[in-house]
Amino acid sequence: MNAQDRLTMPIGEVMFTQRAIRRLRSDPISVEDIETMLDAAAKAPNGGNAQPGRFLAVNDPAKITSLGKLYHEAWWAKRRDLQGWHKPEDVPADDKTYQSAMRLADEIRDAPLIVLPCANKGTAHHSVLPAVQNLLLAARALGIGSTLTTLHPDVDGRVHALLNIPSDVEVICCIPMGYPRGQFGPTSRLPTSRTTFFNSWGNPPPWD
Ligand SMILES: Cc1cc2nc3c(=O)[nH]c(=O)nc-3n(C[C@H](O)[C@H](O)[C@H](O)COP(=O)(O)O)c2cc1C
Repeated sequence: MNAQDRLTMPIGEVMFTQRAIRRLRSDPISVEDIETMLDAAAKAPNGGNAQPGRFLAVNDPAKITSLGKLYHEAWWAKRRDLQGWHKPEDVPADDKTYQSAMRLADEIRDAPLIVLPCANKGTAHHSVLPAVQNLLLAARALGIGSTLTTLHPDVDGRVHALLNIPSDVEVICCIPMGYPRGQFGPTSRLPTSRTTFFNSWGNPPPWD
């Protein structure tokens, strides 16, 4: 069955229940599902239809263990740079997102699949990120959880070496995937009446 026929969940349900799923079961993701998600990603808009995105799907447990260690180091390097946090006690106990993200940094080594969207260095990320969103939405439609995450320059060279990524290729993000231990959606977002203007900056939309 082709990808289009396998993705039958209504688009509204997909979009309104897709969220960061960081607690993953270790059950494998079938190659058929991986192909379906990548086929959906490939259909995304991109500048001039040049299709610069390349996707490295990693399901080898030994490689995921090694990548997981590098992800853990990268996550803490970002916390050091951005928040000045160095250890779990520095992460505010009431910050659910960062508590959950910290746990993902510990548990990502058990994810059954990690996808690294990549492109030649210098490629505008705009031409790859629509494909990444398609990937996340297709995953949701298949009941597969995911989280868009990023790495850190501290681990870049070692990620390239681990996965034989050429030096002129950039890893744009890092997406652990697996069947959820929690639930999909709903998400909490600002109302569009606060984030949308009509005809002139600052002018509220008709639904305000
Ligand atoms: C550019 C970008 C970088 C992100 N980096 C991380 C990350 O490093 N670790 C993580 O656990 N989540 C990361 N996220 C996920 C966000 O935290 C998540 O999308 C946001 O909190 C909304 O979560 P929700 O969809 O579950 O409501 C990232 C998301 C984006 C778009």
